[in-house]
Amino acid sequence: MRNDIDTILYEAETIRERIKVMAKEIEKDYRGETVVMICILRGASVFFCDLVRELGDLDLDVRFEFMCVSSYGSGTTSSGEVRIVKDINTPLADRHVIVVEDIIDSGNTLSYLKRLLAQRNPKSLRICALLDKPSRRKVELEGDYIGFTVEDKFLVGYGLDYAEKYRNLKYIGVLKPEIYQ
Ligand code: IMP
Ligand code: MG
Repeated sequence: MRNDIDTILYEAETIRERIKVMAKEIEKDYRGETVVMICILRGASVFFCDLVRELGDLDLDVRFEFMCVSSYGSGTTSSGEVRIVKDINTPLADRHVIVVEDIIDSGNTLSYLKRLLAQRNPKSLRICALLDKPSRRKVELEGDYIGFTVEDKFLVGYGLDYAEKYRNLKYIGVLKPEIYQ
């Protein structure tokens, strides 16, 4: 699989260090509180597992939820149409909620999810994404906790896929364009 990767953007160690800092930021904002963290499957799975374990060393009561949404098909651009494949069945009313996503690209997925979850009357609702590609935004959306701001290149690894492949790479790399062109 390494042959399909152009350059490695973030090594495993760099990701780990950044997540430690993000966990401290989150803890500072929610210290002593209960926070429902919603992992957006499948891309955020690897990030979610590492982030919640960093939070495990801090003073925070973390609850796990999983949602599965699809907006991509198997290409490299969002269709704009978001489909909830699996919803959560825990009420969010009066809870602090953090949505954990792999990457904010067009913003379609998270702006849709934010609207949907806000209707469930959480006490607060924030977005945590490992990666942000602001240059690709089609709708106005800002993450509250962002790991790395990246350029407009198609990335894989550490949860991110191309046609369901490469999710289990330990690093985040730029996929060679010839793979998807
Ligand atoms: P958005 O709705 O356009 O913001 O897209 C969000 C989703 O697109 C993410 O959850 C990813 O699954 C996918 N995505 C966006 N950019 C990339 C990328 O560079 N590599 C892999 N998946 C991506
Ligand atoms: Mg995805």
